[in-house]
Amino acid sequence: MKWQVVDSYEEMSSVAAEILLSAIRKTPDLVLGLPTGKTPEGMYARVVAECRRGSHCFSDVKTFNLDEYVGLSPWHPSSYSSYMKQHLFGHIDVREENINLPDGTAAWAFERHPGITHAEALELECMRYEDAIARAGSLQLTFLGLGRNGHIAFNEPGTPFDTRTRVVTLSESTKRANARYFPGGVTPDKAITMGLGTISESAAIILLASGESKREAVSRLRSGEVSPDFPASILNRHHDVRLIVDRAAAGD
Ligand code: F6R
Repeated sequence: MKWQVVDSYEEMSSVAAEILLSAIRKTPDLVLGLPTGKTPEGMYARVVAECRRGSHCFSDVKTFNLDEYVGLSPWHPSSYSSYMKQHLFGHIDVREENINLPDGTAAWAFERHPGITHAEALELECMRYEDAIARAGSLQLTFLGLGRNGHIAFNEPGTPFDTRTRVVTLSESTKRANARYFPGGVTPDKAITMGLGTISESAAIILLASGESKREAVSRLRSGEVSPDFPASILNRHHDVRLIVDRAAAGD
């Protein structure tokens, strides 16, 4: 694992944006794994600014988001689909058919299989998502944020390392951290997330962490521990991971 400690959130965002853009320059039909949350907002803003300057940026790129809330349609203002439109997809030349997020309502499954249960529909959606990643030839470059409890995507502590895309129950700490995206403060209980097995098959991974609230998780990751109690620790086993951490998160 390669560590890079930078001075600030701004520097972390610029370094991450440059990694993303140069990967696209090198591989125009890149298959990207993308996170939501506070951490990547600065990276997305820089990518948007750069892509506005050039005409050809994401035109052949395929994207797969890490997760989506169960029960929220893509048009729900607090869905990750809306987040991605607001921060990235609405401003770049990515093709609609190349954007992939789990569908938190699994609407298509109900239409195709009338009478199935909610759980069955979501299960079909998880299978469809895994299949879509496999058909794209698997992830080439995946960006991750880091949860305070060490979660990556929505894989909470205790998640086995070989998990695939599935429905998960969010921990109280994750729901509290994400309540800011829900006007009434009530965060959904469940989400569809890529599994740790799915993520670790990405050829390269960039993990971003910023701010004091991530310090404990960053220091645990630095300890070299490898345990499902700390999901991000799976990255210690991956051969191509780069961590970009600001001073506040690194505690240096
Ligand atoms: C979001 C995701 C989460 C976040 C993590 C950190 O798609 O998968 O794992 O990356 O919760 O969130 P922020 O960046 O808001 O601190």
